[in-house]
Amino acid sequence: MKNNFCIAVLPGDGIGPEVMQQAYKILNILKDKCLLNLQFMEYDIGGIAIDKYGVALPQKTLLGCQKSDAILLGSIGGPKWQSLPDKQQPERSALLPLRKHFNLFVNIRPSILHPELKNLSPLHSRITRFGFEILCIRELTSGIYFGNSGNNLNQELQEYAFDTEIYYKFEIERIAHFAFKTAQKRKKKIVSVDKANVLQSSKLWRRTVEEVSKNYPDVELSHLYIDNAVMQIIKHPNTFDIILCSNLFGDILSDACGMLTGSIGMLASASLNENNFGLYEPAGGSAPDIQDKNLANPIAQILSIALMLRYSMNLHELSDAIYSSVNTALKQGYRTFDITDNTDYISTDQMGDIISKLFIKEV
Ligand code: IPM
Ligand code: MN
Repeated sequence: MKNNFCIAVLPGDGIGPEVMQQAYKILNILKDKCLLNLQFMEYDIGGIAIDKYGVALPQKTLLGCQKSDAILLGSIGGPKWQSLPDKQQPERSALLPLRKHFNLFVNIRPSILHPELKNLSPLHSRITRFGFEILCIRELTSGIYFGNSGNNLNQELQEYAFDTEIYYKFEIERIAHFAFKTAQKRKKKIVSVDKANVLQSSKLWRRTVEEVSKNYPDVELSHLYIDNAVMQIIKHPNTFDIILCSNLFGDILSDACGMLTGSIGMLASASLNENNFGLYEPAGGSAPDIQDKNLANPIAQILSIALMLRYSMNLHELSDAIYSSVNTALKQGYRTFDITDNTDYISTDQMGDIISKLFIKEV
């Protein structure tokens, strides 16, 4: 089994560098205690790269990622760069090109309700008492994010702007195959989300997912319109396992599912291509309001390492050990400020140390 890996570490902006410091603690344990030959190389991305080099995704960063087995990303963007022209915005000019460049068409976001955090979920206890574990599988390199777009913002004429949702059949097929294969390893159940009562792209989506499902007779497939899907997920999240969505619907639903677990600070994300190369990041964003305060929850960043071990390195036991260390920390009552309703919380750094200590015991 391969045990030498090179990881491109891209801390980025906002809370990115702080939570990445905690991720390094885990990476160092993997390197020193687990006989993994890990190499990490750090590169600039996002606003900090704009400040240094004038571009959000410098060539050096891209080449570094290209030479690696996986990318571990912090977060990108912040108020400092918000007034830049549209195309230079760090999210648009770094994250989307990175997804496209590496053909990361699969996005996975697991939303797990931890029993200890049930009281933080915005859902009523009569719903949360059943728990839930939803895996949002989102198409990530096509759809309205990458379709033709434009505008006429000449105020003397009637202003207009447009974006186009376009899906080629092969793009739907490949994400559907991934979802069905994943379902076979879980509860064998997929809900595909679309707006096939209105959108042409959704009609093709639904028909294609149906066709792909013929190859996986052991997996139960159903379809929901996006509006109904949101309603059903809020009403009985425990009845869902895998949700399969287009780029835009997945963007919205994954945040919604994440919040139902109590805090978006727990939500990790993996973006993969067909070679298991992946970009791993917290899904919560750069959170500039709490930047440099040692307050941010590092769990999403740490869990993105767990996803990296699973999906890019095929090291399932180590991945499970990270999940288990995080669970134990929560069980023992350790909380960062976003996952408690009182003032008894610990810092980013302390949470990183606690999870690392538990992880050492696991491995
Ligand atoms: C996400 C983010 C991005 C997206 C933004 C920052 C472009 O919201 O990863 O979900 O919309 O995909
Ligand atoms: Mn999003």
